[in-house]
Amino acid sequence: MLGIQKQTHWLAAFFMFVIPIASNVVAQEYDKLPPPRTLTAEQAKVAAANYKKYCVLCHGENRQGHVNDHAPSLRSKSLFESGVPHAILRPISFGREGTAMGGYLDEVGGPMTLGEVWNLTYWLFEQSGVERVDLSTEAVHGDINQGAGVYQKECASCHGKNGEGITAPALGNQSALAHNTDEFIRYAIRHGRQDTPMPAFEGKLSSDDIDNVTAFLRSRGKNWTMKKNILKKLPTPDEYVINTDGKNPDFKLAENLYVSSAELYEALKAKNKMVLLDTRVTSVWQTAHIEGAIPIPYYSDLKAIVKDIPKDVQIVAYCSCPRAAADSVIHQLRELGYKKTATLYEGIFGWMNFGYPVMHGDIQE
Ligand code: HEC
Ligand code: HEC
Repeated sequence: MLGIQKQTHWLAAFFMFVIPIASNVVAQEYDKLPPPRTLTAEQAKVAAANYKKYCVLCHGENRQGHVNDHAPSLRSKSLFESGVPHAILRPISFGREGTAMGGYLDEVGGPMTLGEVWNLTYWLFEQSGVERVDLSTEAVHGDINQGAGVYQKECASCHGKNGEGITAPALGNQSALAHNTDEFIRYAIRHGRQDTPMPAFEGKLSSDDIDNVTAFLRSRGKNWTMKKNILKKLPTPDEYVINTDGKNPDFKLAENLYVSSAELYEALKAKNKMVLLDTRVTSVWQTAHIEGAIPIPYYSDLKAIVKDIPKDVQIVAYCSCPRAAADSVIHQLRELGYKKTATLYEGIFGWMNFGYPVMHGDIQE
């Protein structure tokens, strides 16, 4: 008898203490939100065409992501459950500073109107086929020091020791931290990103550690404010060739395609005659570019532009991907009969990391 009583006590203790702790790691329930407005057939058609023209290069034909520069998936369930509209709309509009993701809104020098960016956001949502969840906008509280330890152990291998991003998005990115809510970040950590390398940590990490690492990531946001560039006038065809009195450079191209930052810098110093093409979305040309470069984004209709680009001058194209957009433009130019063509091997971030100069946009205070 006594033995059984003891056992009952032990069981009672189990239910009182162990179960509540265990329930702490059980899946959280979220309320569902109604879908945002539905696109008309015409709006959906334009959005699909815009996706093809502007996004496929990095995010892929089927929105699968990781085609170039580890651009994230644009069809994962958790992203579209938690991110619509703002966590999707804002990166499309303004980009993520310091990454290959540029801004596509006309206001910052991009090719799309605000209406088109909204429609593309909703089109991506419709394509994902998921329901939105109702996330709180409250801060997530946690122990930041504890979270830093979790981060180094569980996250740094993909997201980088300092959140700079290696094979995964830059979690220390100030423009992302400024725009994404704590709950959006926690939702990604809990549920992962389906069909991508991002694992779901719910059940793997304690609920407290998920909060700790969320609080740690949040603590790295430094009251970032978006700097607004005063849009520069785009160069006109008479400005396309730089150093018109100089000689063509004599590049020895690697793989018959690539010129290094060091060689390009020498050629610029020697005042060689060249055409420099910045093949990124024009908004990032507005932010910073190599002096003399003209914005010929990867989605340009080259056949319409080439009449203004001479065939006998050395052309060098660059992007930040670090080469995908530039390679695509150079291959098209070669098909159009341009022989003196090259891609900058390290891209503009590599160029800047070597300390070579760029022109910055004028910033509105
Ligand atoms: C040159 C490559 C490139 C192109 C072109 C590009 N993106 Fe991106 N995109 C990226 C990268 C890289 C990131 C991740 C940046 C980071 O580290 O935060 C990203 C991030 C995003 C995000 C944030 C996703 C998330 O999980 O938080 C969205 C939304 C997005 N892109 C949409 C688009 C859309 C829509 C287009 C076309 C209009 C587009 N991108 C064009 C490279 C690109
Ligand atoms: C095996 C590699 C890997 C590990 C480990 C990993 N991640 Fe990720 N993470 C990714 C990838 C890849 C993505 C982008 C997925 C996509 O394509 O949408 C991502 C996306 C995210 C996002 C969404 C970012 C956004 O803007 O949408 C967050 C937040 C995140 N990870 C946090 C973490 C945290 C915190 C940890 C550690 C507890 C972690 N990750 C561990 C690979 C990883």
